[in-house]
Amino acid sequence: MKETQEKIFERDDKNYLPVFSRYKIVPDHGEGAYLYDINGKKYIDFLAGIAVNVLGHNYPALVDAISKQAAKVIHVSNLYYTEPQANAAEKLVKLSGLDRAFFANSGAEANEGAIKVARKFCHQTDREKSLIITARHSFHGRTLATLNLCRKVSTTLTTTISKSLKAR
Ligand SMILES: Cc1ncc(COP(=O)(O)O)c(C=O)c1O
Repeated sequence: MKETQEKIFERDDKNYLPVFSRYKIVPDHGEGAYLYDINGKKYIDFLAGIAVNVLGHNYPALVDAISKQAAKVIHVSNLYYTEPQANAAEKLVKLSGLDRAFFANSGAEANEGAIKVARKFCHQTDREKSLIITARHSFHGRTLATLNLCRKVSTTLTTTISKSLKAR
């Protein structure tokens, strides 16, 4: 018998460390723009991975590409070169008109990369130029640096983090 969503909430709540609130929905599968929960309820998926991987669900070309790659090698260290990475970097450089592509594992890491590049660039002309401005109520990730840029986080927390990050 299929597990009920209440049972999944219960098991998840017991074992998963909550760091943000979630909707009580258990997506099961999707088809194009539609998402179905484990009870068969149909949704139009306007969210995807919060604007990440907005590729539609069960897209045959994508399922085929991921399946083929998973059957070859699914994860190797970035200490090696891989053909898919060389292909993806080349494509991104061509499409963006920029010089290089940087790959990250998460939004927070991508933002950390952007912060480092901005600081490095500005420090070349003026070492005092290190202020990063963010919008009110914005979210930029859960690493220490990106958490400092989230305007939802209390001042006490950000101040504490800033202080603890200072080199001694
Ligand atoms: C604007 C923005 N920046 C950063 C992040 C963090 O992404 P991740 O959870 O992949 O680190 C998110 C995630 O929702 C985001 O919406």
